[in-house]
Amino acid sequence: MCGIVGIIGKNNATEILVQGLEKLEYRGYDSAGIFVTGNDNQDYLVKSLGRIADLQSQISPEVQGTVGIGHTRWATHGKPSERNAHPHTSSNQRFILVHNGVIENFEELKQEFLQGKQLNGETDTEIVVHLVEHFAAEGLSTKEAFKKTLAVINGSYAFALIDKRDAETIYVAKNKSPLLIGLGEDFNVICSDAMAMLSETNHFVEIADGEMVTVKADGITIEDPKGNTVYRESYEAQLDLSDIEKGTYPYYMLKEIDDQPTVMRRIIQAYTNSQGDTIINNEIVEQITASDRIYIIACGTSYNAGWVGKTLLERMTNIPVEVHLSSEFGYNMPLLSEKPFFIFLSQSGETADSRQVLVQTNELGLPSLTLTNVSGSTLSREADYTLLLHAGPEIAVASTKAYTAQIAVLAVLAKAIGDNKKNPVSLDFDIAHELSVIAAIMATIIDEKMVISQLVEDYLSDTRNAFYIGRGVDYYVSMEAALKLKEISYIQAEGFAAGELKHGTIALIEEGTPVFGVITDKKTAAHTRGNLKEVESRGAHNFVIALASLAKETDQIVIPDVHPLLTPLVSVVPTQLIAYFATLQRGYDVDKPRNLAKSVTVE
Ligand code: G6P
Repeated sequence: MCGIVGIIGKNNATEILVQGLEKLEYRGYDSAGIFVTGNDNQDYLVKSLGRIADLQSQISPEVQGTVGIGHTRWATHGKPSERNAHPHTSSNQRFILVHNGVIENFEELKQEFLQGKQLNGETDTEIVVHLVEHFAAEGLSTKEAFKKTLAVINGSYAFALIDKRDAETIYVAKNKSPLLIGLGEDFNVICSDAMAMLSETNHFVEIADGEMVTVKADGITIEDPKGNTVYRESYEAQLDLSDIEKGTYPYYMLKEIDDQPTVMRRIIQAYTNSQGDTIINNEIVEQITASDRIYIIACGTSYNAGWVGKTLLERMTNIPVEVHLSSEFGYNMPLLSEKPFFIFLSQSGETADSRQVLVQTNELGLPSLTLTNVSGSTLSREADYTLLLHAGPEIAVASTKAYTAQIAVLAVLAKAIGDNKKNPVSLDFDIAHELSVIAAIMATIIDEKMVISQLVEDYLSDTRNAFYIGRGVDYYVSMEAALKLKEISYIQAEGFAAGELKHGTIALIEEGTPVFGVITDKKTAAHTRGNLKEVESRGAHNFVIALASLAKETDQIVIPDVHPLLTPLVSVVPTQLIAYFATLQRGYDVDKPRNLAKSVTVE
């Protein structure tokens, strides 16, 4: 979702802002803008609907300066338009502001403080810049006016504010939306994600919710809500610029699908020793062992990974597991068990829906663990424990390697708890070996990508809809496979429990409807084949992804056998490639699907 960048103290502010915004493109956006000043008191505001390339085409050579802020907007209040794009300006043109988040009480604030004021666009953000102007007109300094504004706002925000009368300072604040300060020699930067400013610095300082930061070229001052100065050490971002470049790949998604064998090996290295034993913080293992129920909380692809995690945890630990959508759980919390343990699954660690649940479980004093790809992310900081996914930056909106990394880390966690409980299913399982087999098989499936591309042409070139079906874990993979296909190719795809089709959904099968069956479980293979026959006799164009030991000659994709508990890690890979090629063949942007954002920081 919305991305923020800022720079103070460098001559090429425009270039740095635009490059930073490009690095934030992955978050999803529909318009963008920059404000630059600092040279001979000249200032420039450029905004554009569409991509960063569209913004760039509107930036003329004289748009130069030493100070600036930039923004990518993912519309919430007000349609995507140049008028609604950030930065926003106060009526007297003195204050310039960018915002990520949602101001919940903007209507009330308008009524209370800005009656009769003519606003330019329809966003909640515009109110904020006018409020700063309003309080400054009461005689407050810019800093005090900004603080007073923060005090009356309800909602989530990351702000960067410039006062043109003193453009030597950028004022910054955050609440529930990510924002970092990057430190340089005689310059400083701000960004929603360290990736945006890695070319300038790899030293960053976190900002806590409610704090306000005064950023100047030669230093920063952090203040808590009471005005006390806060001293905080910077940290070094463990990221490499090459991790976030596409290299020779046409799309990040393909690179990230290809990364999966490496990610599996990284997980083996991070979480097992040379004897193949698990290395997981003992406190996590003991706390979960002592719990009577595990609640997995997640959204989107992470939610789908949670279902596979349920199977792994229940089989290996004998502890019951519930999987919940964050956006439902928070507002309709089920009756909890006596000793619950919460696992938050979040690639980004910033998803607002999941965070609102964590805030509640923290208030209830319940123990929690976040599995995330981003160390230092909000969900990681606020949970009791974190296990990192080690997937490397995932930039394509459609999640691939984070999904398989979540399942692999959950498998290691389940194994560690199962061993602690001396559970025979767990003791019988050499996780390091099984994951290395998985890595090798993933690589062979990926090598066959051109075969999959051809199959996609045969099956999906002109269809409006498609179904994935399976039972048990094959159903969970079907849910993820369908999500992947619909979110980027816009083919209306659903993942169904194969046995449930005949209770309603089979009515949608027409001549030629593609139905993908996922078959990796001996117990359910015959039944799923039966369901495929049922749809075939009603005209479906069947496509089967099966494990070698369960395959028939006519199956389209046959995957070598792996440990029965880990089949989702391999059966999902062809479905990722199916989604990729279906999108490519339809001519859509694989990495940036319409309407979607990678990191969803509003509820
Ligand atoms: C967004 C993304 C999805 C992602 C979901 C949860 O909707 O587009 O790809 O699965 O958020 O994100 P998280 O970072 O919490 O895993």
